[in-house]
Amino acid sequence: MKRKSICLLTGLLLAALLGCSTGEGIDPSSSEVSVSTEESSSETTSSDPAVETPAASADPAEEITLKEVFAAHGMKVGTCLTTNMISRSLTNQLILDQFNSVTMENSMKPDATLSQKKSKANGSLTVEFNRDAKKMLDWAKENGIAMRGHTLVWYSQTPEWIFHEGFDSKNAFVDREEMLSRMESMIRGTFEQIEELGYGDVIYAYDVVNEAWMENGSMRQNHWSDIIGDDYLWYAFYYANKYAPESIDLYYNDYNEQFKTQTLLDFVNTLVDENGNYLLDGVGFQAHLYTSDSLDQYFKNLEAIASTGLKIQLTELDVCLGKYQAPGKPTEENLKKQGQFYYDLINGLFERVDKGLVKMDALTFWGFSDGMSWRKEYSPLLYDSSIKPKYALYGALQLKDYAGF
Ligand code: GLA
Repeated sequence: MKRKSICLLTGLLLAALLGCSTGEGIDPSSSEVSVSTEESSSETTSSDPAVETPAASADPAEEITLKEVFAAHGMKVGTCLTTNMISRSLTNQLILDQFNSVTMENSMKPDATLSQKKSKANGSLTVEFNRDAKKMLDWAKENGIAMRGHTLVWYSQTPEWIFHEGFDSKNAFVDREEMLSRMESMIRGTFEQIEELGYGDVIYAYDVVNEAWMENGSMRQNHWSDIIGDDYLWYAFYYANKYAPESIDLYYNDYNEQFKTQTLLDFVNTLVDENGNYLLDGVGFQAHLYTSDSLDQYFKNLEAIASTGLKIQLTELDVCLGKYQAPGKPTEENLKKQGQFYYDLINGLFERVDKGLVKMDALTFWGFSDGMSWRKEYSPLLYDSSIKPKYALYGALQLKDYAGF
């Protein structure tokens, strides 16, 4: 019975999505379209009377969207974004319907925002947003969708040449002073580009540093730390604080956050100015989780970081089936477990936000469809590869009766 309702909802949701779409950009051979057509036609030709009853169509999942559910707790809800997603009308419309925040999956990472040619010509590290970044920023602006900036100082997806003399990887590494000046240029240049290109009111949060700590409490070694020293992290926040407009919240963002609680607490307490004020606004929990993870432990750690008074966001949420050492297959049982996990996680967050235990103004999923996920083999997201709702979606929507448990 429950299963049937979900199939019906799938058909209705897809029909609604397709109905809203302009038709432009749809590839008729794409699986998204063929599957959705099959879905809707199989539903309309069903002989099951339940399919046509008004009671069935009055199901709340037809009416409610993620952004409404999160707004009831003062939160935005987001997805990561690629140009591909906004150039297909089905996924574009789904994002507009369900989400009100986005984070570019790749196009605002240092390897996309820094120009070697211009840096050489200017003699200073120069930021130049590329076509994809501008396309997504324009899209966000036109559609009134808020954006998280991701990311500035990171050990990965950062060009090698920025660390070398003459902006050329063949040369020697620069010294500490030059690297600090390059870091300042990169951070100042990013916020200047945002203002100059008219996106000042689009971006509301920025990951200033990504993934600087290891699970054993040591600092991740990289070119930034090798050249500048361990205080590179303090300087990143110092510069971000100096150049970012007040309207942009500054975040430290990391993964396996539930295993780094003490490290993160000690770290954020070093990120203060001469008056003891924090140089950051929040801590981003990437939340790349597994259905076997302990939510009790997760919430305990989250509350510990929240006790600093800093904001917390879940910035890249996806929940793989099973556990890290033994990922699960998308069986009915595992998918139901995932539905319950999403339900319990989001329910627990709402409870803590409502009680004022955690300041959280947004949660971002790292995509929405399994087929687009960087962990696609473990089915971590809300819709399957055919953009068909999973128990996970109903769990996230807090529709307990549909979430598989
Ligand atoms: C990390 C980064 C993200 C992304 C994922 C993989 O979590 O913060 O930007 O690269 O890895 O998609």
